Amino acid sequence: MNILITGANGQLGNEMRVLRAAHPKHQYFFTDIAELDITDKAAVSDFVTANNIELIVNCAAYTNVDKAEEDEVAAMKINADAVAILGSQGVKVIHVSTDYVFSGDEHLPCRESDPVAPRTAYGRTKYEGEKRLLAECPDAVILRTAWLYSSFGNNFVKTMIKLGKEKEKLGVVFDQIGTPTYAADLAAAIFTVIECPMWHPGIYHFTNEGVCSWYDFTIAIHALAGIEKCQVRPILSEEYAYKTPRPHYSVLDKSKFKKTFGIEIPYWLDGLKRCMEKL
Ligand SMILES: NC(=O)c1ccc[n+]([C@@H]2O[C@H](COP(=O)([O-])OP(=O)(O)OC[C@H]3O[C@@H](n4cnc5c(N)ncnc54)[C@H](OP(=O)(O)O)[C@@H]3O)[C@@H](O)[C@H]2O)c1
Repeated sequence: MNILITGANGQLGNEMRVLRAAHPKHQYFFTDIAELDITDKAAVSDFVTANNIELIVNCAAYTNVDKAEEDEVAAMKINADAVAILGSQGVKVIHVSTDYVFSGDEHLPCRESDPVAPRTAYGRTKYEGEKRLLAECPDAVILRTAWLYSSFGNNFVKTMIKLGKEKEKLGVVFDQIGTPTYAADLAAAIFTVIECPMWHPGIYHFTNEGVCSWYDFTIAIHALAGIEKCQVRPILSEEYAYKTPRPHYSVLDKSKFKKTFGIEIPYWLDGLKRCMEKL
C-alpha cells in the first residue's frame, strides 16, 4: 500500500518512522506541516491523488491542552476540520484520539461505548474530529490513547528527568490516575491494524497495560534514570496551579482492541524501560 503518515515529526509520527523498517512491503510518505498542512484541503487532495495514497495514518494534532483552552478555534481547525478533510479523500484512514473525550470522573476503565463528556477545549475538538471523520469516512479506524511519551519530542518523562536533576524536592500529583503509553507501542498497534488481513473499522482504546498516578510514574522514571537526590512528594491536584482541569481517572479499557486484533499489550513499566534505554 501507499501510506501517508501526517504529523510525522511528532512523538507518534517519529515512532512510525522507526517501525517502518520492520514493514518494508509498503511505500511510506512521511509529512509534517512543512510538507503537507492537513488544514489545506486542496493540498491534501493533490497529495493523495499524485501519490496514489491508499491509507492515511493521522498522527498530526493540536496537542497543547492549555493553549487549546485559549484558542479553541485554532485547535478545532487541526483536530476536527482537518480530520474531516482527511476523511473525505476516499481512502482508508487510521486516526488517533484521546482519553480527554471522557469526563475523567469515572471509577472504572472506559469502554468505547461509554458516553463521552469532554471537559476541555482540547477534548471537545478531538471529539468533534472523531464525529466529523466518521461522517466522512464511516469505515475509519480511531484509536483513543492517553499519557503518550517517547524518546522523540517533549513529554512528561523528559520533563521529570530534567527536574529530577535540577531540584532537591518535587511535588507531583497522585490523585490523577491513568496509563503511561509508550508511543512506540502505539505505533506497533497501528501496524497491527495495517497488517491485519481484515479491515475492522470503528473506535478502539489503546494504551499500555496497568494504571498509576503521575506521582508513581515519576518515581519509576527517577529510579530508571538513577536520580536519587531529588525527593518526590505526592501532592493533590488542587495544590498544583493547573490552567486547565485534568481528568482524575482516565483509564481506558482495551478489551475490544485485544480481542479484535488478537494481541497482548506491554505493561506501562516495561514500555518506560524500553523508552529510557533510548534516552
Ligand atoms: N501526547 C499525549 O499525551 C496524547 C494523549 C492522548 C492522545 N494523544 C493523541 O495522539 C496523537 C499523537 O500525539 P503526539 O504526542 O505524537 O503529538 P505531537 O508530538 O504534538 O505531534 C503532532 C504533530 O502534528 C504536527 N501538526 C500540527 N498541525 C499540523 C498541520 N496543520 N498539518 C500537519 N501537521 C501538523 C505538529 O507540528 P508542530 O509541532 O509544528 O505543531 C507535530 O509535529 C494526537 O492525535 C494526539 O491528540 C496524545
